[in-house]
Amino acid sequence: MSRNESHALLVSPTQDEGARQRFALGLKRTLGRRLRPLRRVRFEQKRAACESPEAVEAVMREDPVDRFWQALNRDTQERMWAAVAAPLEREEQRLAQQFRDLSAEHVHGGTLRLDPGVATPSYLKGIAIHLQPGGYTLDRSQDDVIAGALYEAGGAIYSAGAGIGVGQSKAEIVSTWLAQRFPGFAPRRILDIGTSAGASATPYAQHFKGAEVHAIDVCPGLLRYAHARAEALGVAVHFRQMAADRLDFPDDFFDFVVSHNLMHEMPPATTAGMFRECARVLAPGGITVHQDVPLRYAGLSAFEKWDYGWDRDHNNEPFWLEFAAADVKAMLQEAGFMPAEVFETILEQADGSMRWFVVGARKGLR
Ligand SMILES: C[S@@+](CC[C@H](N)C(=O)[O-])C[C@H]1O[C@@H](n2cnc3c(N)ncnc32)[C@H](O)[C@@H]1O
Repeated sequence: MSRNESHALLVSPTQDEGARQRFALGLKRTLGRRLRPLRRVRFEQKRAACESPEAVEAVMREDPVDRFWQALNRDTQERMWAAVAAPLEREEQRLAQQFRDLSAEHVHGGTLRLDPGVATPSYLKGIAIHLQPGGYTLDRSQDDVIAGALYEAGGAIYSAGAGIGVGQSKAEIVSTWLAQRFPGFAPRRILDIGTSAGASATPYAQHFKGAEVHAIDVCPGLLRYAHARAEALGVAVHFRQMAADRLDFPDDFFDFVVSHNLMHEMPPATTAGMFRECARVLAPGGITVHQDVPLRYAGLSAFEKWDYGWDRDHNNEPFWLEFAAADVKAMLQEAGFMPAEVFETILEQADGSMRWFVVGARKGLR
């Protein structure tokens, strides 16, 4: 269940590559933890009464210190990805071979089903979300796993850069909370939506032993990697190419439907469609949980809204602020869950490094 589990698809950087990664990581941490607070200091020094993030932008536009921070922050993000990509490119052929071998063997019972009929959502086309090289949709051959490899390797540096401890996966945090909130909950069929490299699907399969675990995503390069990774870990997961708001599963099929860090990367209309599908595919008594960044607009000052908006404008997170402004609990009710079935909470990494927003519902025995 630990975060960043070791397995055969991981690539060890050379001395030089490692040094570049550590440099990018150090710079990222300094910019995020130590220098970002300077934005507020610079703003407060201007003594401007701003009612909106746009007004803050007008005040800060010509601030040289803030401009410098912004340029360096963007550059560091690009530098980080370049440092992550180099070893993967060097070992691209080995990774493709690993995929071929592991998916031919299926020794652990996992499967992969890609479906060229599944359309890539327009919002993922031609955009590199948080600057991942090639974007999630990178898919250059029938054994291209680089999108997934980048996602996992980048995620490890990302979380370290944000100071998130390596000991606890997001799935572990949710499983621990589920056991407290719904004692005895033991799902037999689980679905992980927007699984990416599958780093949340495998911990659920390990935690809920005997459960049949399915995981979907729209991007083939991510799913190939996720499948090979799960097989390398010896964990059975059924990966399929499918859209969150168009699930090809029967009604009442799952006991547990989960997504991690997905809502902030989809347009609200797609999230609403996903919630409707959750209400449909969940069996009575089943639970759906959606974990994401703790970015809630309500209660934020104009300065904070402006500050958080940086990722939308400069880190290719197009739906960051729409997610922050959404009333997700109300969306779940609109999707068919009863008010009493819906819950919302904040969960914390055990080491206190990060807080997560969690929303969901337990479908009543109707
Ligand atoms: C931030 S990643 C999720 C990370 C992953 N759940 C984890 O915990 O490591 C978002 C994922 O959602 C996928 N995605 C975006 N829109 C989707 C949709 N409409 N249906 C299914 N997956 C989608 C992307 O391809 C990407 O892999």
